[in-house]
Amino acid sequence: MEITSREGRMFIEGCGAEDLARAYGTPLYVYSEPDIVDKCRGIRREFLDKYEDTRAAYAAKAFCTMGMVKLVEREGLCLDVVSGGELYTALQAGFPPERIEFNGNNKLPAELEMAVEAGIGRIIVDGLQELSLLEGICAARGRKMKVLFRVTPAVDSHTHAYISTGKKDSKFGIPMDPEILWPLVERALSSQWVDFLGFHFHVGSQLHENGSHLAALETVLDLSGEMWRRWKRPVRELNIGGGFSARYLPGEPRQPWSYFLDPVMERVEARFSALGLPRPAVVIEPGRSIVAEAGLTLYTVGSVKDIPGVRKYVSVDGGMTDNIRPALYQAAYTVAAATRMDEAARETVTVCGKCCESGDILARDVSLPPVEAGDLLAVYTTGAYGYSMASNYNSNPIPAAVLVKEGRAEVLVRRQSYADMTALQEIPPSLR
Ligand code: LLP
Repeated sequence: MEITSREGRMFIEGCGAEDLARAYGTPLYVYSEPDIVDKCRGIRREFLDKYEDTRAAYAAKAFCTMGMVKLVEREGLCLDVVSGGELYTALQAGFPPERIEFNGNNKLPAELEMAVEAGIGRIIVDGLQELSLLEGICAARGRKMKVLFRVTPAVDSHTHAYISTGKKDSKFGIPMDPEILWPLVERALSSQWVDFLGFHFHVGSQLHENGSHLAALETVLDLSGEMWRRWKRPVRELNIGGGFSARYLPGEPRQPWSYFLDPVMERVEARFSALGLPRPAVVIEPGRSIVAEAGLTLYTVGSVKDIPGVRKYVSVDGGMTDNIRPALYQAAYTVAAATRMDEAARETVTVCGKCCESGDILARDVSLPPVEAGDLLAVYTTGAYGYSMASNYNSNPIPAAVLVKEGRAEVLVRRQSYADMTALQEIPPSLR
């Protein structure tokens, strides 16, 4: 994303941070359209155009709004959804259903019905009961659904435990124990209502190294060989999930997609040619790596408290309600003073939110120029899992999100009002 300074004032893709704050209020999520487009095109260059029969399904959970879904559609990607709400958002935006795939460890009957009725492209079956549930839903409607099985590859990944998902002891995926997996595969292969394409895994998120993807890949390549030996049925699609990292701090490593995907493709090609089979389609589900760096959050500074010899707290008008990641994963962020871009960062401060929680810290011990009430701060790289994990804790409204490009800003989501927050509430008649 293009950040510039004009006389010490921050401009984001040519839009003045102060103008944005005035027009839309703060906190404000600002998304750079050129950055998102650039990331999508990077995936095209390094993966989709380089290898035939590949797809990238943007993981909507990272940032799911109708505008974002439209942008992803325009850039030619597919979409990975994990709930009826994400599916609804995509369908409302007119996203082509056949380019949607549905993940999740406990898809509700109503969600599966919605997916089957919409005619989405794939359901990634997860868990032990979902196959029969789905077959029933398909049979009732006379519709066949393409499916993959998400397996738990039993690999650890080097990331925060809360976002490591491939371990054997995991709520995600079908265990690879032969007595559990193969009867389910056999059933899917012989089912009239599902077309079994192959296997899916997702090992974790914000991964800087390709080791977990490659270890998990070996296990699904073994499964593909075993399936061929058992039933002479080839795997036609492999989905290796997402997890590719974004850069949150200056100097932090950020590997290109090719670093993960070239060795994956090489291994898939090699194994299938050894089996004498055509290479299956290969699918990825990047979320964070597309949208994290494209977003920043603008805040207005309020109270500033210097506790002599202890710490200086700079409070802003948002916090854990618009970015839970520091509290939940100890995630670190880069902060800039958007109204003092040319001043030297000569203070170490802790930027905290306005919620009634001591853990409501956005960034600990960051260097900033001295700021005071009314200054704007920008927290970078909040594009993924910021808005999408936002809450109304303390009845703070969820901020607006805007898309910026060439000096123009357009609304993706309007800011919630107090009335929006009480709109669904009722005073029980007995209390009136
Ligand atoms: N596919 C599946 C099946 C997933 O579970 C996920 C993320 C993705 C794709 C996308 O992963 P990505 O490319 O974004 O790493 N809230 C956490 C991240 C949770 C990720 C959950 N699954 C955070 O803020 O770090």
